[in-house]
Amino acid sequence: MSDQWLPLLLLLLSLLSAFTAPSTAGDSITAPETLSDGGGTLVSLNELYELGFFNPNNSNNNNRYLGIWYHKIPVQTVVWVANRAHPILDRTGVLNFTENGTLVLLNQTGTIFWSSSSATNTSTPVARLLDSGNLVLMDGAGDANVFAWQSFDHPTDTHMPGMKFGWDFRTGLNRYLTSWKSASDPSPGDYTIMFDLRGVPQVLTRDISVVTYRSGPWNGIRWNGVPAQTSNNSIYNYTYVSNNNEIYYMYLLSSDAEVTRLFLDPSGVLDRPVWVESAQSWTSFLSGPSDKCDPYSLCGPYGICDMDTIPICNCLKGFSPKSPRDWYLREAKGGCVRNTKLGCEEGGDGFMKLSDVKVPESSNATVDATMGLDECAKKCLMNCSCTAYATSNISSGIGCLNWFGELIDSRTYPNGGQDLYVRLAASDLDKGGHTKKKTSVGVIVVATVVPGILLLSVVGYCLKRRRWWARKLVRRGGTIEYFREIRSATETELPLFDLETVRNATNNFSTSNVLGEGGYGPVYWGKLEEGQDVAVKRLAKTSIQGAEEFKNEIMLIAKVQHRNLVRLLGCCIEGDERMLIYEYMPNKSLDTFIFDFTKSASMDWQKRNDIIMGIARGLLYLHQDSRLRIIHRDLKASNILLDKELKPKISDFGLARIFGGDQDEAKTKRVVGTYGYMSPEYAMDGVFSVKSDVFSFGVLVLEILSGRRNRGFYQSEPDSNLLRNAWRLWKEGRGLELLDTSIGHVYPVIEVMRCLQVGLLCVQEQAEDRPTMSWVVMMLGSEAVTLPQPKQPAFSTGKGVPEADQSSGLHEESRSVNEVTMTILQNPELTSHRLRGFSAY
Ligand SMILES: *[C@@H]1O[C@H](CO)[C@@H](O)[C@H](O)[C@H]1NC(C)=O
Ligand SMILES: *[C@@H]1O[C@H](CO)[C@@H](O)[C@H](O)[C@H]1NC(C)=O
Ligand SMILES: *[C@@H]1O[C@H](CO)[C@@H](O)[C@H](O)[C@H]1NC(C)=O
Ligand SMILES: *[C@@H]1O[C@H](CO)[C@@H](O)[C@H](O)[C@H]1NC(C)=O
Ligand SMILES: *[C@@H]1O[C@H](CO)[C@@H](O)[C@H](O)[C@H]1NC(C)=O
Ligand SMILES: *[C@@H]1O[C@H](CO)[C@@H](O)[C@H](O)[C@H]1NC(C)=O
Ligand SMILES: *[C@@H]1O[C@H](CO)[C@@H](O)[C@H](O)[C@H]1NC(C)=O
Ligand SMILES: *[C@@H]1O[C@H](CO)[C@@H](O)[C@H](O)[C@H]1NC(C)=O
Ligand SMILES: *[C@@H]1O[C@H](CO)[C@@H](O)[C@H](O)[C@H]1NC(C)=O
Ligand SMILES: *[C@@H]1O[C@H](CO)[C@@H](O)[C@H](O)[C@H]1NC(C)=O
Repeated sequence: MSDQWLPLLLLLLSLLSAFTAPSTAGDSITAPETLSDGGGTLVSLNELYELGFFNPNNSNNNNRYLGIWYHKIPVQTVVWVANRAHPILDRTGVLNFTENGTLVLLNQTGTIFWSSSSATNTSTPVARLLDSGNLVLMDGAGDANVFAWQSFDHPTDTHMPGMKFGWDFRTGLNRYLTSWKSASDPSPGDYTIMFDLRGVPQVLTRDISVVTYRSGPWNGIRWNGVPAQTSNNSIYNYTYVSNNNEIYYMYLLSSDAEVTRLFLDPSGVLDRPVWVESAQSWTSFLSGPSDKCDPYSLCGPYGICDMDTIPICNCLKGFSPKSPRDWYLREAKGGCVRNTKLGCEEGGDGFMKLSDVKVPESSNATVDATMGLDECAKKCLMNCSCTAYATSNISSGIGCLNWFGELIDSRTYPNGGQDLYVRLAASDLDKGGHTKKKTSVGVIVVATVVPGILLLSVVGYCLKRRRWWARKLVRRGGTIEYFREIRSATETELPLFDLETVRNATNNFSTSNVLGEGGYGPVYWGKLEEGQDVAVKRLAKTSIQGAEEFKNEIMLIAKVQHRNLVRLLGCCIEGDERMLIYEYMPNKSLDTFIFDFTKSASMDWQKRNDIIMGIARGLLYLHQDSRLRIIHRDLKASNILLDKELKPKISDFGLARIFGGDQDEAKTKRVVGTYGYMSPEYAMDGVFSVKSDVFSFGVLVLEILSGRRNRGFYQSEPDSNLLRNAWRLWKEGRGLELLDTSIGHVYPVIEVMRCLQVGLLCVQEQAEDRPTMSWVVMMLGSEAVTLPQPKQPAFSTGKGVPEADQSSGLHEESRSVNEVTMTILQNPELTSHRLRGFSAY
């Protein structure tokens, strides 16, 4: 063999070695060894961890990262990444040493993607993956316990057993976690979690700079905000160290058999999953935030979150909502204000004890580790800006925490929290009893009117509001009863707008602000001072029927909150004005879309499907998930409003009825509702139940699919009977022909057919054959559910109510009229009907 072949042979050999199946190179590399992508991995001696190049599962790119994962766990679980922000775009990455003993990650052209931030300064550097999963850099000829650099000092999103999470004050090192951008992208995401050293140390999760979650301070045994944390759990134990040199939290596995880790997931949740061998999956053991009360400062200053109350936000005793209107809308972030200013002088204030709570945000708190609880109280009283105290060590009861300023982010726990003593003016303490934020109007009227209005030297918006109330009530004694009725019927305080505000918002009820004519008066568009758009439904002064519906609507909608129900922001009752103020829906009602030739083109299948699902969820909530059972009775396309993202919201509760817990159906002499949407048993016999709403829903579904209005049942044109038409096409296997042509030709056929079938199931003649809304939601939402065959829909044979009613003068006015809600009295003499042009609000 001639010499010229030698280099080629060598090249071949080296290529061969590079392409042999990835072999492991033990647990370390020593210069001049390198670790190249495709050239094997390092595995810790206990075979728990593995270091090498990887591409995150499910990523749609070929980015290569150097990282550490569990060697034996088949589900790719990466616990550390070197070059998370600088992926290598091909497989030429090499882990190598520089001359001064720095560990570097580069590609073949020498671009550096990552390097250890410190060097060994020797010619014999070693990089080793320890049993703990710690990648360390050290001098091969030196002390094996001295690391020039270690990955445990530079965690990515995972806090591993044995790793110190926290600060080393001597070196200024802060070990904290930064989430991945997504499950398939290790680059730094928006969430971080780290020790906050201000005041009394605690751990804070942040979304960029906004705090989203807080562990609470260490209480001697565990994080105050993680009551479920226990050390004797057979999986891991933990320690907390806080001294002049360092502060950290650390945990150790009880045995290598049960693996757990702590990591900040891409959505900002700190999760502690445990690997369950038998299930071959990770199962969450603890996480934070873990429930609705956990998000940071949900209830604002002096608010306290309680999972057992509705709504979950409450004011601490002695405090009232700063903005009752916002609180009513479940936007409690504004928090609460003190009812009575602190006295501060000797004996002027005292403390209210709260048990089992997460203590407030402690960045403005102080700690005295040697002080007992009694002294702690005295210390707090002595400083006028001290607002609360608690013990700092629940196991010894020694140690004193004092809070200064606002108390933020408190919550209660069923058990496992600790006692907190909140400072209150003596007068607020005396009232005793459990904190009750709901003071009925009746009480206020008596309390303010009788002892004289001057009593009201009030603090804050809330009481000012009430004073205003009281004046109004005094002036118009005659209406107190009416208000009281509404008030007591609404458990939460329904915000009141004064006439002036509404007047200003609607440009003095300018005709140019009129959105339409509702069933009992005009509906105006308005803009509140704060800039919020609202719809104002103004009751015509002459409408007696309207007054009833007005009251009904207030009582009902004030009690329900759901993203698919329109939100009532408040009401205005002044003089003989009666108004309801709603959130404004820029896209008006569903009928203006689906029945409009040009606008319906913007409604593709996905949008229509989302709308159907949204309506179904809203109705399900009314029927079953709210605290009440509500039958809407007037569900129709014009009562479905669309927000700016075209999300549907059910509106118009003027005709709705609340059912008792065990009541299934009711009968009324006054049949109200809208032709085309009324179920046969309701239209004919006045019997209504959840199933009559289901019928209306079915009609809606068919209308949304077809883009055609169900025009009653007695029109001469056969095609105008939507139910009959849909049924005919379904029977002939031509169901897709029902579809609105503006949906286009591309849609998921199975999904559409399924939707049609559900629609038909909902409009069956017999109420008992129709599915409940929960069943509807399930059928629409899951392809796994087998659907029953629908029976012939009601009104599709040509027989039915309408012929009879025509003779009594009942008919739809004309097709140009948008919508008709009718009142049919069973007594023919009193038969009446009224028109609703635009009854969206
Ligand atoms: C992830 O990727 C690895 C290696 O490509 C593969 O073995 C594993 O099955 C993938 N899936 C999961 C869920 O980890
Ligand atoms: C590793 O780095 C040394 C210099 O420190 C260099 O001579 C060698 O070629 C590098 N090895 C690889 C595979 O890049
Ligand atoms: C090394 O990385 C740089 C930067 O990404 C790139 O421009 C270069 O082409 C890479 N070299 C090789 C051989 O892949
Ligand atoms: C080690 O060498 C690299 C270049 O090879 C240089 O960038 C780095 O600053 C050096 N580190 C130390 C600690 O001297
Ligand atoms: C290596 O040298 C750098 C700069 O001279 C120094 O800061 C560092 O502490 C040295 N590292 C070790 C492990 O001695
Ligand atoms: C931990 O110990 C406490 C008492 O020390 C006991 O009440 C609790 O049940 C134990 N928990 C577990 C998970 O063993
Ligand atoms: C925690 O568990 C490790 C073994 O897994 C043990 O060595 C250590 O002593 C335990 N620590 C405490 C405080 O129980
Ligand atoms: C802590 O006090 C400062 C200064 O008084 C204040 O600006 C800040 O809002 C307070 N932080 C909390 C959480 O109360
Ligand atoms: C009250 O406590 C605050 C915070 O610790 C402190 O700044 C202030 O000086 C104290 N006031 C008095 C009168 O001791
Ligand atoms: C809390 O009290 C216990 C004794 O009951 C003690 O062992 C522990 O060190 C204390 N913790 C702190 C942080 O002071």
